[in-house]
Amino acid sequence: MAVQITWHGHATWLIEHDGHRVLIDPFFNENPAAIVKAKEVRADTILVTHGHFDHIADAASIAQQSEATVVANFEIATWLSNEHGVKSTVGMNLGGWTTLPFGRVQMTIAFHSSQLPDGAYGGNPGGYLIEIGGKRLYVAGDTALFSDMQLYGRTELDAAILPIGDLFTMGPVDSLHAIYWLRPRVVFPSHYNTWPPIAQDVESWADAVRQQGVAEPRVPEVGVAIELE
Ligand code: NI
Ligand code: MN
Repeated sequence: MAVQITWHGHATWLIEHDGHRVLIDPFFNENPAAIVKAKEVRADTILVTHGHFDHIADAASIAQQSEATVVANFEIATWLSNEHGVKSTVGMNLGGWTTLPFGRVQMTIAFHSSQLPDGAYGGNPGGYLIEIGGKRLYVAGDTALFSDMQLYGRTELDAAILPIGDLFTMGPVDSLHAIYWLRPRVVFPSHYNTWPPIAQDVESWADAVRQQGVAEPRVPEVGVAIELE
């Protein structure tokens, strides 16, 4: 079975393979771009990149209704378990790998911040390298451009999910530098058009990526699964 990727608006993505449902940064109920509510969503693993509400808002409720395992940095994993009663968590930190039922993930660095919605310390922000169904995906999370991306690109990436919204993360121009370093086969834009401050012309971005000629840009529609070839 092929690996499928579905965008749920903003920075929320679902990766599916062989019955596994891996949800990244669940943000549904207050996400203006989402077309489903959190109570309709099931996952068996939830990956959280950092503590901001637009990445963690629905993590606890979906984890509880699905009995999912939440993977996050140690501080966020502890907070979800102590403050929100999430039963199964994997707390990790930057640079570490962990093996999960669907494959493996490494928590990668991100240049951003990570305070939790109640003001608690959310540790360092991160991203993930994900191995699933024979594919390698890189989810940058919220981050500025950083030059270690060229190291992540040394092992072949089938896909990268990069923020392009600017203001809080890298914008379209820096994403081209990131693509040059990461050299993924396919690149998906994320973290844009949710609210006016991060509005972007995604078709211009896709044209610029095509012109650059390193990766194939894929602009998903919200809720429509894309098969990773
Ligand atoms: Ni953030
Ligand atoms: Mn964000």
